[in-house]
Amino acid sequence: LPASRDRTHVELASQDAELPSPIEQETRAYHALLSALTRGASVSELSTLAADRAMRLVAADGALVARVDGSALSVLAAHGLAAPLAADGGLPRDEISRAVLERNQPIVFGDGAPGAPEWRLPVAAHAGIVAPIYAEGRPSGALAVLCSDAAMPGSADCARVCKLAEFLGLGFALADAHHARTRLLERVFSAQEEERRYIARELHDGTSQSLMSLVVRLRAIESTAAPATQQALHDVRQLAKATLEEVGRIAHGLHPVILDELGLEQAVRRHAAEFAASHGLKIDVHMHGLRGLGRLPQSVELMLYRIVQEALRNVARHAEASTVSVLLERARDYLRLIVEDDGKGFAVEQLDQLADVPHLGLHGIRERAAQWKGVVTVESEPGVGTTVYVELPL
Ligand SMILES: Nc1ncnc2c1ncn2[C@@H]1O[C@H](COP(=O)(O)OP(=O)(O)OP(=O)(O)O)[C@@H](O)[C@H]1O
Ligand SMILES: [Mg+2]
Repeated sequence: LPASRDRTHVELASQDAELPSPIEQETRAYHALLSALTRGASVSELSTLAADRAMRLVAADGALVARVDGSALSVLAAHGLAAPLAADGGLPRDEISRAVLERNQPIVFGDGAPGAPEWRLPVAAHAGIVAPIYAEGRPSGALAVLCSDAAMPGSADCARVCKLAEFLGLGFALADAHHARTRLLERVFSAQEEERRYIARELHDGTSQSLMSLVVRLRAIESTAAPATQQALHDVRQLAKATLEEVGRIAHGLHPVILDELGLEQAVRRHAAEFAASHGLKIDVHMHGLRGLGRLPQSVELMLYRIVQEALRNVARHAEASTVSVLLERARDYLRLIVEDDGKGFAVEQLDQLADVPHLGLHGIRERAAQWKGVVTVESEPGVGTTVYVELPL
């Protein structure tokens, strides 16, 4: 058999101390894929990363990741020698599926390959490895590494590529599950907002209007009533007015019309002012660099508004604070929201143990922000206060 690539690799590594050993390369590859997964990377991001790492792992000239897509294989990543295949988008599935997917066996091709398959990729690859990707027990795609010279890859390289493909299969399953969960949460949040908007509208257009005409009529009756009943009518009218205001407050909390009409800045200022008045808190609001930004998408504004609402609600319920600062600013290419209080603080590290039904606020904040790739950090020091940071890429 022609010289194995494994040997070449080892020789190269010993010649150049800077070059990582195959084991190190492998560790780095898995590390990169794992951290991409924890970041919630998509299937195509994982594929790009895996193709790049596979190429380095076996010193190949090209790599390709394709995923089963109906009767074809769609190319998710194609590097080096394989790059022209990315433009085509799809590969016919028949030969590959027969040779790789259905038997769950890799193909190694090159000079001297026993029973070399007649199948060849339409690029100048004379040797290579095509490893199956299985996700949840089903054939899901293939990871191929390609070489321009004809020396057949060795068995150690083949094992490395197969292991990486196996890991990528797990990655696909996780990324799909993450994607499905994100879509589901999106639906839950938007259904919740739609419901709130509906109830707010009903309260505003129905209940409030009825109360309003009640107040007007009472005033009319009051003006002509006998002095003995005037005071009683006045009291009833005051009660109706207070109820009207209360209904207005509830409707506003459910869906702030001001947010649609005047935008996030005004809505946050107004909410903070009302919240401060009703909870005896001092709330400072600072906004920086938002002017040039224009209006953000409606759902992003609503998400940030809901986060401010929950963070302030937490201050009022748990913090025993006297002062709160709300900061909303644009910093380069992201938006930062900070809600900071000077209350009693809490043990943030125990937050995960609180992830049960009665404690959903901070988890909700995280999930809402994650919909827009935002990151939420909560810092708290007992006796000093709590800070909620939200960073949202623009
Ligand atoms: N600003 C704060 N100051 C002090 N403790 C806080 C603050 N914010 C949150 N906490 C603590 O963190 C816990 C979790 O907060 P979280 O908002 O997730 O749930 P919750 O407010 O208890 O319930 P809900 O699901 O109604 O929001 C709180 O129970 C409280 O102990
Ligand atoms: Mg809460």
